[in-house]
Amino acid sequence: MAIYVKETGTKLVEPGGRRQHDGPQKGRTQSQWEGLETRYHCLMAECQALRDTLEELEESRNRYAVLYDYAPVGYATLDNQGRIKDINLAGASMFGMEPLKLIDMPMSAYVVKSDINLFLEHLRRCKQSNQKVSTELSLLSRNGRPVQVQLLSVPYSCSGGSALCYRTIFTDITESKLYKKEMARLDRLHLVGEMAAGIAHEIRNPMTTIRGFLQLFTENKDLSNYKGHLDLMIEELDRANSIISEFLSLARNRTVELKDQNLNTLIKNIFPLLQADGLVTDKSVELDLQDVPGLKLDGKEIRQLVHNLVRNGMEAMPSYETLIIRTYIENGEIVLAIVDRGGGIPLEIAEKIWTPFFTTKDTGTGLGLAVCYSIARRHNARIDFETGKGGTTFFVRFGIQEAHQRTFTCTPETA
Ligand SMILES: Nc1ncnc2c1ncn2[C@@H]1O[C@H](COP(=O)(O)OP(=O)(O)OP(=O)(O)O)[C@@H](O)[C@H]1O
Ligand SMILES: [Mg+2]
Repeated sequence: MAIYVKETGTKLVEPGGRRQHDGPQKGRTQSQWEGLETRYHCLMAECQALRDTLEELEESRNRYAVLYDYAPVGYATLDNQGRIKDINLAGASMFGMEPLKLIDMPMSAYVVKSDINLFLEHLRRCKQSNQKVSTELSLLSRNGRPVQVQLLSVPYSCSGGSALCYRTIFTDITESKLYKKEMARLDRLHLVGEMAAGIAHEIRNPMTTIRGFLQLFTENKDLSNYKGHLDLMIEELDRANSIISEFLSLARNRTVELKDQNLNTLIKNIFPLLQADGLVTDKSVELDLQDVPGLKLDGKEIRQLVHNLVRNGMEAMPSYETLIIRTYIENGEIVLAIVDRGGGIPLEIAEKIWTPFFTTKDTGTGLGLAVCYSIARRHNARIDFETGKGGTTFFVRFGIQEAHQRTFTCTPETA
């Protein structure tokens, strides 16, 4: 950079501050020259400072842009008509679109129909109150799943103060809403469960008395004409009692008696019983048991789990079909699979099958799977299922306990 004298255009100083003409010139004193030179150095320093500030500004703008774009919550600016003026990546992802495609689009086009009035009211309140306004509504996402969001808008003057815009934060509240709903449902269930458990427990006492008297009556010769009826009443009472026991085992936080056992052994023990159950309805059961290591199991509970799952499978299958009980190792877990050839579980039913008392059967209690679920949980096992038109398979996955891997491998002797 060089400095030029205004009137003549003569170059006075070369870049680097070297003066072109040494010594005083016509009309300029030595001190004037020195003054000019000092001024030049000051200007150069100011220039450098400005350049540094510009660089810092650029850096901070980039930092801000990255923060804005990659912030976990959605940010957008709306004009006073509700058009999107800018939006970050998180915001755009709630619409299922790219940010650029949303610029200048009216946001109302992406709000579900039933919530458009809520959005217009949101804009109106922003305009009137000039303060932050919050509204919950649902957005139509491109993937077809409505996204529930909370909008928080703060008005500010834009376009040089001639218009009003709204800085808006979008928070995806779909999951938290679901959790809240689920928590409320569980709370209700818990309360109902506790009440029901209390009542069920109390009902058993008078039932035991009635059963005792009925038993006495069956032995009374004077009442021998009624023996059939009395036996039927005892049978029904026993059935009611077993339903209550099942329910209480689900409601109570009972402790399990875990012992080192082999899953295959337990299955083989109850196999004749399962076969007999199947025979009544012309269905059969087959075993396909691979060698699996021992586990810490509560034998009574595992037998009940297998029994409930097999009974469900049998009830779903038409006559002359075969249900298979499998055990095998997969991804470091011992898997028990109950494979049936029934009609499968429709989606709307599949969502509810673990709920206590949910049943699609006339004589079902809807407790079978809920009991299986709590047994699996007490054994730190996972239970899930796959279903389709060809049938359903329930899987119970037990983590292999290191210590038992070698000592409890199922051999014909241990089985
Ligand atoms: N293997 C299966 N195939 C088809 N549907 C099934 C199967 N297992 C469970 N279900 C469905 O899940 C529901 C709940 O099952 P769950 O065992 O909890 O109760 P339930 O069998 O109806 O009555 P119960 O208390 O006597 O067992 C059933 O009514 C049925 O609709
Ligand atoms: Mg059942």
